[in-house]
Amino acid sequence: MPTIFVHASFFFFTLVALSGVWMRLQFLHPVPFLPYTNILHGHSHLAILGWAFLGAFFLFLTYYWRTLKQKKQGIILFFLLMIVSVLMFISFLYQGYGLFSIIFSTTHIFLEYWTSLFIYQQIKIEGNELKSEKLFIFSSLFFLVLSSLGPFALGYISAIGQKESYWFDMAMYFYLHFQYNGWLTLFLIGMFILICKKQSIRLEDRLLEIGFWIYVLSLFPGYFLSVLWVDLGNLMIFLAILGSIGQWIGVIFILLAFLKSWKDISSQYATLISVILALTFLFLFIKSTTELGLIIPDLSILIYETRSIVIGYLHLTLLGFVSIFILAQNFMLKILPVKRLSIKGMILLIIGFLLNELLLFGQGLLEWTTRERIPYLNEGLFLASGLLLLGIIILWMTITRQKCYR
Ligand code: HEM
Repeated sequence: MPTIFVHASFFFFTLVALSGVWMRLQFLHPVPFLPYTNILHGHSHLAILGWAFLGAFFLFLTYYWRTLKQKKQGIILFFLLMIVSVLMFISFLYQGYGLFSIIFSTTHIFLEYWTSLFIYQQIKIEGNELKSEKLFIFSSLFFLVLSSLGPFALGYISAIGQKESYWFDMAMYFYLHFQYNGWLTLFLIGMFILICKKQSIRLEDRLLEIGFWIYVLSLFPGYFLSVLWVDLGNLMIFLAILGSIGQWIGVIFILLAFLKSWKDISSQYATLISVILALTFLFLFIKSTTELGLIIPDLSILIYETRSIVIGYLHLTLLGFVSIFILAQNFMLKILPVKRLSIKGMILLIIGFLLNELLLFGQGLLEWTTRERIPYLNEGLFLASGLLLLGIIILWMTITRQKCYR
């Protein structure tokens, strides 16, 4: 497989972290160079569509490369996704939400449809038996397509001059919910099951399937949990409660299945990989459990109004769970080598992540209780983002030093 693919995915991860450092720097020392909101839009779009999307697709290509029927199509698709992601990032930096950034992010959506079809066809070739990994991957593709209704709705709502209405935020949360709780979570779990099974690790399919169905059916009402701050009546509160408890139970079943095979998993992989996997699952558990707090309407309004809590939660999910899970699978597929340097890189990244979360959630709690600020908060957040950036670059370096990974 072209080596440029792995470098592209780490290049995007590095740019994501760099734009994060840039934003944190602005809190310490205003830099008049680019408007903050442009960097923010560039950062979040590149993170989800550049790093996470390409990172997940890269895992798929690596896993199937030898047996892949349409290698040429896979290469063209990956290159197009790379080019569009770069152009989208540059246009967000340059103009924020504007003509070009909208054109490129919409093009990305159409490439996502193509990618879904490509993945679907490849997995279908493998046979008709619907095993647990296929359930996870097929449904993730469905949620990927479903989530794209969010951005189209955003365009329509802006076009009719309702950008300031709560419909705009509802469309944005629709997109985010089905992207990270749907597409990314299900796809990465599906890939993890595939990799484990290839390694002859026995997993409890029954538990995984029960967990899958409870989780997936709860994802639909679970959307209302993200928009509880809009007063849409008791039915919505009931659906949000149903969704969040269902999602939590689904996650517990899935984690239980992994826990039951833990001995097998940890004996197959180096200690570093087992530790990263254990952390990933712990972050998924913490994320799902904290979501239960949103059931209380007053608390949910408070949470959505506290920026540091929202940002802390988004990064717990997208950085702590999604990104570290992608890295763990990179290690499992031997794309990232287990050696001293990669251990150091991973430690820095995890310390940076934990510091970031501690400060963001700590600040939120302090704001609610004493209305005070953590001393040197901005300096601490800047330090955390610097550690994250350094950790990612070190991990990337370990790949550049390898001549061939597959
Ligand atoms: C790797 C290190 C990262 C750093 C240092 C970082 C830093 C930041 C910062 C400083 C903000 C703005 C906070 C604010 O305005 O209060 C932010 C927002 C955000 N980040 Fe990250 N981030 C990182 C990784 C990621 C990743 C991997 C993802 C997703 C896969 C991500 C998704 C987001 C999203 C969705 C937002 C909110 C955007 C908005 O409010 O419009 N970040 N990040």
